[in-house]
Amino acid sequence: MEFKVTKSSLKNIKADMLVLFFGARGLKKESVQQFDALKLEKSALKDFAAADGESLLIYNGASRLGVQRVLLVGLGDMGGAEPFRKAGHAIAREARKVKAKKIAIDASGIAEWSLRCGVSPERLAEALALSLVQGTYRFDRFMSGKLDKKKKDKPVELVQCIFRGNAGSVKDIENGVLSGGLIGDSQSLSRDLVNLPGNQLNARDIARYARESGERYGYEVTVMEKDEIERLKMGGLLAVNKGSTEPPTFSILDYNPAGGAKKTVALVGKGVTFDSGGISIKPSNGMDEMKSDMAGAAAVLATVEAAARLELPFRVVGFIPSTDNMPDGSAQKPGDVITTYSGITVEVGNTDAEGRLILADALTYAVQEYKPDVIIDMATLTGACIVALGYSVAGMFSNDDKLASSLFTAGEQCGEKVWRLPLWDEYDEQITSEVADVHNTGGKGAGTITAAKFLEKFVDGHTCWAHVDIAGPSFAASKSPQRSQGGTGFGVSLLVNYLRSLVY
Ligand code: BES
Ligand code: MN
Ligand code: ZN
Repeated sequence: MEFKVTKSSLKNIKADMLVLFFGARGLKKESVQQFDALKLEKSALKDFAAADGESLLIYNGASRLGVQRVLLVGLGDMGGAEPFRKAGHAIAREARKVKAKKIAIDASGIAEWSLRCGVSPERLAEALALSLVQGTYRFDRFMSGKLDKKKKDKPVELVQCIFRGNAGSVKDIENGVLSGGLIGDSQSLSRDLVNLPGNQLNARDIARYARESGERYGYEVTVMEKDEIERLKMGGLLAVNKGSTEPPTFSILDYNPAGGAKKTVALVGKGVTFDSGGISIKPSNGMDEMKSDMAGAAAVLATVEAAARLELPFRVVGFIPSTDNMPDGSAQKPGDVITTYSGITVEVGNTDAEGRLILADALTYAVQEYKPDVIIDMATLTGACIVALGYSVAGMFSNDDKLASSLFTAGEQCGEKVWRLPLWDEYDEQITSEVADVHNTGGKGAGTITAAKFLEKFVDGHTCWAHVDIAGPSFAASKSPQRSQGGTGFGVSLLVNYLRSLVY
């Protein structure tokens, strides 16, 4: 989608639809002035309360605007950037309904809204642009149209948004829509990867997408193939891969800003391209959703890409261990004891607790080889996290209060919320083993926490570490007004926002 910013008068802008924002509080006064200036029909206001997310489409007969349709969009009583995200989705939805290709958005009041809601004009414009990109996202590459012609005729898409600003706000809007569009693109890539099913995306494909992104946006990508993974003795990744007919990969995505960086942030993403559970096989109901078990990897790939495009002043290194988890004659068996890259031995009580095994190797490797200042892993790790926090919030753990609070704040700002859970030693009892250093499952209760306690053992105690369990918010089983079914791209905005909050 193309974004343009202009100072020209609304009367000179030609588009298929014009968007006007209204806050609920001053609705009467604001709207009467606007409506008079544009010669719009005031009776429309009877049906519009300007609640956040509310919209009303009107057609302007008498006015001399270069547009036929005007969409009134409500911002409610304000608070944070959330009303702008809702607005972006509402605009995308309405534009689709009326097949608008080109729309104009009056954002000239953005500085004033910024004062009311306490978010900078730039970030408001960013939220708007990002949600416009996300609101138009579709995953339709497998629609051939052979059975239903309507599916072949691609719907008319929104291709251009013209933002109208004024002298004081044009620069902020330009910056905001630039970063919003760019983060939105990376988020769409992460949704694509999650939506690609197991037969279309294996460990090698993930590595290929990483390479392509690195070549395009100028950062280094190294892919370790199976022989290298064997040479390094990454016993966790190899054990999970044993039942697979496809080799594992371990990709390293290294964005190192020109001129060097004072800080290095490592991001580790779980890249299980399909999780059948292995020999501890999952029930067939809903197993198809396990094509999304690489959502952590997708978020990490997209975040490194966005960091490179935004030219952030930190080194950001993504680590993506990838394989599928399949049952087979050669698959690992419940009860097996394996030796991870760290040398720590693990009793594999349940082959369906595979994510922590591949993350263990990647965490140790990242800490030992890169000595990052901060390491964050992101993973669709446990169903228990969905039980605890539901489908819109991620679980978060950290050995560092400052990191935890930065992630919490980043989440609140971008609408990808995380809630911290404890890493108390009491939970260690649950993952002890009689035959190995540690057990890969924690028995009954606190499944999300025992998974995190397991990961903690593979990060040295001195490195600031956080684990984000995105099992719930990474995938939408059915569609809603806010998003289509499938991958949500959760985690990209969260990580990008966290990275931007770091002080140089
Ligand atoms: N990938 C799953 C977790 C998951 C479940 C993600 C539902 C998204 C939606 C993970 O590998 C898994 O199977 N975890 C097990 C752990 C258990 C065997 C200790 C779980 O949550 O049941
Ligand atoms: Mn599993
Ligand atoms: Zn899994």
